[in-house]
Amino acid sequence: MKKIEAVIQPFKLDGMTITEVRGHGRQKGHKEIYRGREYNVDLLPKVKIELVVGDGQAEEVIKTLTAAARTGKIGDGKVFVYDVAEAIRIRNDDRGDAAL
Ligand SMILES: Nc1ncnc2c1ncn2[C@@H]1O[C@H](COP(=O)(O)OP(=O)(O)OP(=O)(O)O)[C@@H](O)[C@H]1O
Ligand SMILES: [Mg+2]
Repeated sequence: MKKIEAVIQPFKLDGMTITEVRGHGRQKGHKEIYRGREYNVDLLPKVKIELVVGDGQAEEVIKTLTAAARTGKIGDGKVFVYDVAEAIRIRNDDRGDAAL
């Protein structure tokens, strides 16, 4: 299993449950565009999406996410991928892929 964590521009999302975060990449927030305007602050609003999927689905999810979030401008965001050791559905003790 893989955990896919994406930090992307807030306006790229419509109707999903996400966490609002603040951050900066290598430009340290300087001269980044947010909602069409240039901002000069250290930490800019982003959204973080986290999802755990089976190994076989990870590449497709990453491709879909990056294609949807890409404008080609700085600050588009980043995707981090982690190995997940275990997943457990609390209701019935399902484990692994069956718990996803
Ligand atoms: N190395 C990192 N560790 C943790 N979070 C990061 C890291 N790099 C970026 N982020 C998060 O991702 C968000 C988007 O980063 P961003 O797209 O600006 O990365 P970048 O490396 O500066 O690339 P670009 O040159 O395209 O802007 C940041 O606001 C921050 O929240
Ligand atoms: Mg950046």
